[in-house]
Amino acid sequence: MPSIFVRGGNELRGRVEISGAKNAVLPILAAALMAPSGVTQLESVPRLMDVLTMVEVLEHLGVEAEWREGVLELNAERLTASEAPFHLVSKMRASVLIMGPLLGRLGKVRVSLPGGCAIGARPLDLHLKGFSLLGADIVLGHGFIEATARQLTGNTIYLDFPSVGATENIMMAACFAQGVTTIQNAAEEPEIVDLACFINSMSGRVEGAGTDTIVVHGRRSLHAQSYRVIPDRIEAGTYMVAAAITGGELILENVIPEHVISLTAKLREAGVTVHSLLDGMHVKGNGTIEPVDIKTLPYPGFPTDMQPQMMALLTLARGTSMVTETVFENRFMHVPELRRMGAGIRTDGRSAVVSGVRALSGAPVTASDLRAGAALILAGLVAEGVTEVCGVSHIERGYVGIVEKLKSLGADIWLE
Ligand code: UD1
Repeated sequence: MPSIFVRGGNELRGRVEISGAKNAVLPILAAALMAPSGVTQLESVPRLMDVLTMVEVLEHLGVEAEWREGVLELNAERLTASEAPFHLVSKMRASVLIMGPLLGRLGKVRVSLPGGCAIGARPLDLHLKGFSLLGADIVLGHGFIEATARQLTGNTIYLDFPSVGATENIMMAACFAQGVTTIQNAAEEPEIVDLACFINSMSGRVEGAGTDTIVVHGRRSLHAQSYRVIPDRIEAGTYMVAAAITGGELILENVIPEHVISLTAKLREAGVTVHSLLDGMHVKGNGTIEPVDIKTLPYPGFPTDMQPQMMALLTLARGTSMVTETVFENRFMHVPELRRMGAGIRTDGRSAVVSGVRALSGAPVTASDLRAGAALILAGLVAEGVTEVCGVSHIERGYVGIVEKLKSLGADIWLE
């Protein structure tokens, strides 16, 4: 397995195009299962490991998938299986998103218990609670979950936590339920809105996506559609931090500025110049970084998926910052690695105190998960000497051509 090597010290400059959003396309791929006829055509689909795994899951279920000039075409007319096997689900937790569509369309679904990034326990209780309230029977076996229902019936479902995956799964199952389903305390992430827009484009009826109450009108006949996926706000955020940490200046193209408002606010507090453009962002680092406190929260709060990258930036701030992680219980695995590069970070439970240092130094480090890997590359961009980031497969799950993109902006980075 190759590593990513970075020699720090280059300011990044230029323009970079942000890819389609991984976390929007994964549920949309699952939703393509809901169309009993026609061909779904998806544009702006990032060719990432996670996306290819989801396509493999769909193919296993009988979907015909083909890439045609950058457009992913999916025909879900004939489904031949209702089970996602372990070797695919264990690669990627988001494969559980097939549960809602299959439960609705076929009345049964079985998935192995999921794997994916090692950031906490990540249970599925809220997904299952939702299915159960819609009338499904749930069996938790050794290593698998099975849900069956002769008929789903609309209901009011309150989520104890606004889980992104549970909101998506329940929304999709509810499209097949008799009557109306209301999801309360729903997740409000842009990826939820994108899924709702996709379902509505298929002639479904989902209202309120982007607020904490989503209403789904069930039993509408759905048709395959063409759809363009939103830009990836986390990839965008990572390049915004890359400009800030190197004291460089970047124009990011294909960004919805509203989707990165919390990061924009925090970068400005840290002394970084950030401007929204019509379809992008302009970010300019100013050499010094002021300390800021960060607390991760469900959208529109600060995204947990940007916490490691922001922490990398704050290791070089002129003072002490506090980073509090409230979404996942075990998301500080990048901390020991950043420390190996000279960062001053102490953790206590869900909080990390980051005491800024004058400089980081290159070291061999390991990416334990996707965003931790991104944080280590960012740190490597400014560290003295060479940083070797192992665990590239994690990083490739979420960043299209990260080495090529950073190189085109002036970074001294290579894969070996
Ligand atoms: C999605 C994103 C992931 C992001 C996360 C939070 C995708 C493919 N992944 O993951 O990148 O970090 O949102 O923004 O979109 N929880 C429960 N019970 C459940 C479900 C979740 O307790 O049934 C808890 C989890 O353990 C976690 C928290 O809720 O602590 C957030 O999880 P959730 O919003 O469901 O994240 P994912 O959908 O897995």
